[in-house]
Amino acid sequence: MPLLEVSDLSMSFAEKDLYQDAEFQLEKGDHMGIVGQNGVGKSTLIKIITGSILPLSGNVKWQKNIKIGYLDQYADVEEDLTLTDFLRTAFADMYEKNRQLTKIYEDYAETGDDKLMERAGQLQDDLDAGNFYELDTEIEQTIVGLGLDSIGRDHLVGKMSGGQRSKAILAKMLLANPDVILLDEPTNYLDTAQIDWLVEYINSFKGAVLVVSHDYDFLEQITNCIINVAFGKSLSIVVASKKQCVNVKSAKSSNKNNLISNKLKLKKLNGLSGRIKLVLSQQWLNLVRRN
Ligand SMILES: Nc1ncnc2c1ncn2[C@@H]1O[C@H](COP(=O)(O)OP(=O)(O)OP(=O)(O)O)[C@@H](O)[C@H]1O
Ligand SMILES: [Mg+2]
Repeated sequence: MPLLEVSDLSMSFAEKDLYQDAEFQLEKGDHMGIVGQNGVGKSTLIKIITGSILPLSGNVKWQKNIKIGYLDQYADVEEDLTLTDFLRTAFADMYEKNRQLTKIYEDYAETGDDKLMERAGQLQDDLDAGNFYELDTEIEQTIVGLGLDSIGRDHLVGKMSGGQRSKAILAKMLLANPDVILLDEPTNYLDTAQIDWLVEYINSFKGAVLVVSHDYDFLEQITNCIINVAFGKSLSIVVASKKQCVNVKSAKSSNKNNLISNKLKLKKLNGLSGRIKLVLSQQWLNLVRRN
């Protein structure tokens, strides 16, 4: 069963038709890129699959108990936290357990009550299982990797610029180690070294990734399949990966009133093996260059 199954998806805003009867699946281990011209509906697609907006019609089915990490630049964040404390909230339950443990030891020092030690043992086991004592190192590595150290670890999240804030949200999302990562144009606010860090992160990430980007170099390094959200007619894209091939076809532009109508159809072709193969139509290359 795929991690995510989207079927019969149609969406439009006021007079603008986006997709009609779109379908695709995200499998475990898929690192899927989403490309397409400005305004074609890529961000809308991400918002639909995260449930933050409803489609006109269609089904979005996530496997049960999947932890999804979504980089939403406009997400509400705790503005009065320092960068370090904000990143620690990715492991809020662990830090809370550690706080409880410290309190128990203080109480024990006063009362000598052995029952307290039983609870302490449980908490200690949970902290060890969650690698609690390595979390600060992991947080530090992420701070440095994304260049957040230049902002300052005590900088308040509420006083960050848009780009700094996005980086902080990205860092927290990556630290939380979700099963699926959804990214909408993550390279916009990263410099070359930070993009390299993110590439390395994604390539060693075992979960699934869905990333919208206009940055072809970036996509080429991190994806094993691509879907294209397309305007107009007869645009057809094929991108193959080691395990699978996704064939994307846009709809014919059928609207008499010059409205743009798209259909996104993905078909999985099995049996490909060997190196990652990219089969790109000329239109797609043009599309990428235009972007
Ligand atoms: N809430 C909304 N109400 C009305 N129209 C919307 C809304 N959100 C998006 N749109 C329109 O839907 C279309 C698709 O928008 P979307 O943001 O998904 O495009 P995109 O492919 O992500 O573009 P870009 O590459 O520029 O980020 C655009 O024409 C946009 O103006
Ligand atoms: Mg967008």
